[in-house]
Amino acid sequence: MDLKSFIRDIPDFPKPGILFRDVTTLLRHPQALRYTLDTLAEKVSELSIDYVVGIESRGFIFGTPLADKLTAGFVPVRKPGKLPAAIYAAEYALEYGTDRLEIHQDAFEPGARVLIVDDLIATGGTAKATAQLVQQAGGELVGFGFIVELAGLGGRQQLPSVPITTLVTY
Ligand code: PRP
Ligand code: ADE
Ligand code: MG
Repeated sequence: MDLKSFIRDIPDFPKPGILFRDVTTLLRHPQALRYTLDTLAEKVSELSIDYVVGIESRGFIFGTPLADKLTAGFVPVRKPGKLPAAIYAAEYALEYGTDRLEIHQDAFEPGARVLIVDDLIATGGTAKATAQLVQQAGGELVGFGFIVELAGLGGRQQLPSVPITTLVTY
């Protein structure tokens, strides 16, 4: 299935000069959504994942059903001030701004095998900060999964050297 044909391009969102790759048009299509989750699950199946970490907010949409398909647990990495128990925090730079991410300190048993999932990698700042949080919380990072990679921004070069699975590249 040609997943690119389900992703909509919106020029100048959220700022002038950004070409926004909109996955809501993929999500609303039942066959495209199922194909996306099945394909990502199949590609990471050999990694023996204990926990999928999904990054708020678009990473939640794909990460939770993927965790279910892998018979793994789901751990949210959230934007500031949302997690109720003790947290670790990491600052990061976006293609369009800066932000901060948080994880529960007790998210993993020591050495748990963790896959980080998000809808898209651009500069890699979000995923890199999440990798630091996984490490701080005692997880063993064994891979990344993204639906979309904006290869021109060099995001994968920012990440630790574990397998990176992407389904669509621009
Ligand atoms: C978008 C996207 C990724 C991130 C990628 O999230 O969903 O999480 O940017 O950018 P990077 O590789 O340059 O860090 P955003 O922060 O816009 O928020 P959202 O998921 O809540 O929509
Ligand atoms: N997140 C960061 N850059 C993006 C882009 N160009 N399209 C969609 N989401 C993004
Ligand atoms: Mg996001």
